[in-house]
Amino acid sequence: MLREAFEYLTTPCPPLARRFGYLAEAVALGARYRRQRRAWEPHVEACRRFVAEAAERAPRGGRALVAGSGLLIEVPLRELAERFDEVVLVDVIHARSVRREVRRFANVRLVELDVAGILDPLEATLRSGGHLPSPNPPELAGGRFAFAVSCNLLSQLPLMPLDAIDRRAPHVPDAERATFAKALARSHLAWLARTAHTAALFTDIESLWLDGGRVVEREDSTWGIPLPAPDRRWDWDIAPAPEEDRRRDLRHTVGAWFDVTGFALSC
Ligand SMILES: C[S@@+](CC[C@H](N)C(=O)[O-])C[C@H]1O[C@@H](n2cnc3c(N)ncnc32)[C@H](O)[C@@H]1O
Repeated sequence: MLREAFEYLTTPCPPLARRFGYLAEAVALGARYRRQRRAWEPHVEACRRFVAEAAERAPRGGRALVAGSGLLIEVPLRELAERFDEVVLVDVIHARSVRREVRRFANVRLVELDVAGILDPLEATLRSGGHLPSPNPPELAGGRFAFAVSCNLLSQLPLMPLDAIDRRAPHVPDAERATFAKALARSHLAWLARTAHTAALFTDIESLWLDGGRVVEREDSTWGIPLPAPDRRWDWDIAPAPEEDRRRDLRHTVGAWFDVTGFALSC
């Protein structure tokens, strides 16, 4: 608890990201990872293997982008730094541990950015009213990247904005929220395809509750986007009991695609 409070108080964070709860989420992610390190190990290995394999499909050299770099739990940073001339890590927030880690690599750079371009317009709407805004992902300087990977971000993109809508605009109808969430996920795919010649992605595709090893609840995590069958998939035991529930275990199915540029615009 003390460690988390310290992190919360000392992590540099843009005011809007703090307001939308990204800082609290980042601190909670680190704490959960420390508690569940053993249960997460197969997932972490699968992510890192996938990212390294995806990067090998792109030509050596050039620039690489990691979107949703978070705490670098799932990112094989050394391999990426060795393969590409420059690696740009993009997230709404970069923890102090990440800033320290990055200092070890001369060719890794941090960019603090809302890749959906949603927080500013959503804040304006929540203050003044009106329909939920459309995402407007930013163009990054320096032209198209050789390689990009979106790390466990697609399913997460709408979560904090939807939480803010719940708290501050509870009257917004469910259908408008669903359209908003789908637009965020869809525009992320299109943005990735625009941003890099080869654009890999992994994300939760399903959330399962298990009781005594039996699936008792199953929910899609892709916001209604018709993604093709993934190139790789694996289970992530994200919250074995009693992490989230006294009896039930929470498991995510993760899907991974080596290159979304071929289908991003048709989803
Ligand atoms: C599930 S975590 C990913 C964990 C990370 N891949 C790792 O290895 O630690 C999702 C990440 O997406 C980031 N994120 C969520 N919405 C974002 C947005 N609009 N722009 C940029 N990053 C965002 C969060 O801050 C968080 O770090």
